[in-house]
Amino acid sequence: MAQLFSPRADRRLRLGLLAGAGLVLLVGASGFAWVRAGAAWAVGEPAAQPIPFSHAVHAGGLGLDCRFCHAGVERTADAGMPSAETCLGCHERVWNVTAQFAPLRAAIARGAPVGWSSVSRLPDHARLSHVAHTQAGVACSTCHGAVEEMPRTVRAENLSMGFCLDCHRDPSARQRPASAVMARDYLPTGEPHALRPHGLQALRYEHYGVEVSPLTRCSTCHR
Ligand code: HEC
Ligand code: HEC
Ligand code: HEC
Ligand code: HEC
Ligand code: HEC
Repeated sequence: MAQLFSPRADRRLRLGLLAGAGLVLLVGASGFAWVRAGAAWAVGEPAAQPIPFSHAVHAGGLGLDCRFCHAGVERTADAGMPSAETCLGCHERVWNVTAQFAPLRAAIARGAPVGWSSVSRLPDHARLSHVAHTQAGVACSTCHGAVEEMPRTVRAENLSMGFCLDCHRDPSARQRPASAVMARDYLPTGEPHALRPHGLQALRYEHYGVEVSPLTRCSTCHR
């Protein structure tokens, strides 16, 4: 019988298939490495902001407390943002009022907040409560890094589900006494701290004989 493909064509086909498979593997592996490295989470990348606000100047240099501008952290799920009036309260007097503050005046005139971009926003299906973490002795820097040293605010941790679960499986080692939650010079003692008496960790959820901690239950973080 006459050969349909010459041995050379056959070899070329094999080589082609091998190269194709190699390419698929390479794309997959680099995609995996990219996600792992945090590039996919925009870790370390500042967002475009209407005013070049600096935490290093205000929370670092001037030493303003985080709660001065993010008043919700101890009371509500949302940390909250400072009003334009909060900024002008100082900038009307202590500093020259320049063009870079125009968005503050526009916000006051519109009666709307300054449209800051977020570097921490979670997808809509996931939720986070600031008051729960503050009361449980989890410091801002655990999730946001050393914000008071940032000239431009960036995401310091990837804030992925794995990041959350890493702690939710056993938070005790990373909790501070509630009184030290806002301290910037806190040194970990290595001692596990007393937990909130009616906190989620105190509860255990029985389901078909399997104990599931409420802290790792899907509905704790997903709606
Ligand atoms: C003088 C007011 C002020 C103080 C004090 C302040 N912040 Fe902010 N913060 C802002 C403003 C304005 C923004 C929005 C602009 C930006 O992201 O840089 C912001 C944004 C943030 C964000 C990003 C939020 C997001 O949606 O991604 C985090 C995290 C944050 N602040 C944490 C802190 C922490 C922690 C402290 C204390 C160490 C602090 N801030 C102190 C005004 C303040
Ligand atoms: C407690 C007073 C105070 C408050 C409140 C305050 N600032 Fe400032 N801000 C200052 C001072 C003082 C400086 C000058 C710091 C310097 O030059 O060292 C400054 C500097 C700045 C600068 C120039 C920073 C730079 O990178 O050179 C910007 C922009 C600014 N502030 C925006 C804001 C915004 C936006 C808010 C509200 C979220 C705000 N400030 C709230 C006191 C304040
Ligand atoms: C357990 C992790 C965690 C801790 C602890 C934490 N945050 Fe956040 N923070 C987040 C996440 C995640 C978001 C985004 C929330 C969302 O998209 O619903 C966020 C959002 C914010 C925002 C944006 C708020 C807004 O209204 O847009 C600010 C400001 C902020 N955090 C400041 C703080 C400060 C100040 C502290 C300490 C008192 C703190 N955070 C502690 C994880 C944390
Ligand atoms: C360093 C530890 C730590 C990290 C990181 C952490 N958490 Fe938590 N989380 C806790 C502790 C501790 C509690 C409070 C448990 C209790 O009430 O006893 C809690 C409680 C919660 C609650 C329950 C709030 C309520 O209704 O009482 C939610 C929702 C939550 N965390 C979401 C998240 C999400 C989303 C992330 C990741 C972006 C995250 N957490 C990261 C330690 C952590
Ligand atoms: C401690 C909080 C927490 C718990 C508990 C949790 N998740 Fe998540 N999950 C998150 C956060 C935060 C994200 C969003 C991460 C992102 O994409 O920014 C997420 C993302 C997801 C996604 C989307 C993944 C993607 O690639 O976009 C799925 C699906 C999911 N979770 C399923 C689950 C299931 C199923 C459970 C229960 C077994 C669970 N989660 C428990 C915090 C949690």
